[in-house]
Amino acid sequence: MTRFTVAIDGPAAAGKGTISRGVARKFGFQHLDTGLLYRATGRRVLRGEDPVLAAQGLQPDDLFGDDLRSGEVAQSASRVAAIPAVRTALVEFQRAFARRTGGAVLDGRDIGTVICPDADVKLYVTASDKVRAERRYKELAAAGADVTLQSVLADLAERDARDAGRDTAPTKQANDAFLLDTSEMTIQAALSAAVDFVAAVYSRGD
Ligand code: C5P
Repeated sequence: MTRFTVAIDGPAAAGKGTISRGVARKFGFQHLDTGLLYRATGRRVLRGEDPVLAAQGLQPDDLFGDDLRSGEVAQSASRVAAIPAVRTALVEFQRAFARRTGGAVLDGRDIGTVICPDADVKLYVTASDKVRAERRYKELAAAGADVTLQSVLADLAERDARDAGRDTAPTKQANDAFLLDTSEMTIQAALSAAVDFVAAVYSRGD
């Protein structure tokens, strides 16, 4: 099989990243965290650039740096992601990645709905607000960030509302996506459910 695309969408901190990386590793596919493109654009905007020019001018180096994961960059990413021309600037890179030979996993908000509506497998990964905030809080606290559970919860709620409420490519479960609610699951159990789901389609060879 030369091309096989897995689209994984869902709100922030639902476990998409771990699941996407795990699925990619298991099947030998390449993985693209599309949130990084928006974070990189958002970081350039925080440095004073115009959002559309920033998105159009992204370079491979833009996708590195610990500060890409900060709350400030996440909020800036979510603001620039609501601008249609920013999204347009990033579409072709994502679609080309999805078409690559050897299989691809893309995770984001609009992969199954807008970027790859014909993906071979679509998953929508979610979890309750409380569980997502707790997971993100633990990650940030472990990395030494100065945050409280309350501030993380408020941050996620603000970002989710903006991402789900925008007119262009809002966070949305595609009609044909498999819903994986990880609220009551360990991340290992969630990954294993995702792998089983992908394997069922991949082994059929269609
Ligand atoms: O997934 P992550 O939290 O890194 O994404 C950061 C922000 O980028 C999201 O809050 C969202 O606004 C935006 N995003 C998007 N579409 C994607 C991926 C991310 O709008 N496919």
